[in-house]
Amino acid sequence: MKFAIPTLALALAASTNAQFYNQSAPFHLILLSSNTTINGSTLSACHEGAAIEGLCLSNSISISQPESIAPGTFTFNYSDSVVTPNVTLGSPGYLTYLLQGSNFNFSEPMGLYVNPTTNVALPLFYPGDNLATVVSFDESNLMNIQGYIDDTKSPAAVGNITAYYRWYSCTTYYTGYTYVMLSWVLGAREPQNPTCIKVNVKRVFT
Ligand SMILES: *[C@@H]1O[C@H](CO)[C@@H](O)[C@H](O)[C@H]1NC(C)=O
Ligand SMILES: *[C@@H]1O[C@H](CO)[C@@H](O)[C@H](O)[C@H]1NC(C)=O
Ligand SMILES: *[C@@H]1O[C@H](CO)[C@@H](O)[C@H](O)[C@H]1NC(C)=O
Ligand SMILES: *[C@@H]1O[C@H](CO)[C@@H](O)[C@H](O)[C@H]1NC(C)=O
Ligand SMILES: *[C@@H]1O[C@H](CO)[C@@H](O)[C@H](O)[C@H]1NC(C)=O
Ligand SMILES: *[C@@H]1O[C@H](CO)[C@@H](O)[C@H](O)[C@H]1NC(C)=O
Ligand SMILES: *[C@@H]1O[C@H](CO)[C@@H](O)[C@H](O)[C@H]1NC(C)=O
Repeated sequence: MKFAIPTLALALAASTNAQFYNQSAPFHLILLSSNTTINGSTLSACHEGAAIEGLCLSNSISISQPESIAPGTFTFNYSDSVVTPNVTLGSPGYLTYLLQGSNFNFSEPMGLYVNPTTNVALPLFYPGDNLATVVSFDESNLMNIQGYIDDTKSPAAVGNITAYYRWYSCTTYYTGYTYVMLSWVLGAREPQNPTCIKVNVKRVFT
């Protein structure tokens, strides 16, 4: 197995700097949850700042703004020249959203916004690639984030490429906006935000 480590590391390192210009067909993102209120909810882009969008639940953006908005349309940018470490778990790429203005269109990649004081991170669409997070869609179309270092063991187990599905629906506060949003929990523990409910995120092509 020793040979596999640099191979995987190279594949993932390549993917962090890669430009993902092959684009999938458009799709909606749907939440699957054992909570039947949330199960089947769609996600929509919602305003979080200048050219920054979050992923809100379409049918309950916030307590103060309960009306529904249309399901968002997203695409997956990948590269047919980047190695896929595990085809079952899916190719590396960016979840992208087309921000449309009156005289511009701007394809924004999703990146996780991390506040060091909480384990609940927020997927946000930002302009530019600097803050983008590499994600994948597995063979069941579930969105995941992959890693090959398991630091819950000592010594850390390195080289077993693993897909994580640490998605939650949480009521979150970000720069003045309180929304019910798709969130990501950092690490293997429970979210510290008590409103979080476990979900999976499935893409369904339009
Ligand atoms: C995604 O791919 C399309 C098609 O190549 C490209 O126009 C767009 O800029 C890409 N988006 C990102 C965020 O890389
Ligand atoms: C992926 O993008 C490259 C560069 O733009 C292009 O040459 C290639 O044909 C694309 N592949 C697919 C499957 O669309
Ligand atoms: C959630 O929705 C999916 C698809 O509509 C359905 O297959 C599944 O049984 C539902 N789960 C629960 C817990 O209701
Ligand atoms: C299910 O989700 C709804 C909406 O977020 C929430 O009000 C409710 O408490 C949740 N139920 C359980 C059992 O967690
Ligand atoms: C890909 O990942 C799946 C799920 O973890 C695993 O069962 C399978 O063996 C992996 N395939 C390869 C080629 O490593
Ligand atoms: C932006 O994209 C939309 C939908 O693809 C298209 O109708 C519109 O003409 C585009 N606008 C610009 C300025 O490119
Ligand atoms: C690799 O990770 C998967 C998923 O976490 C796990 O089921 C499997 O046992 C691991 N394999 C090894 C060799 O550690």
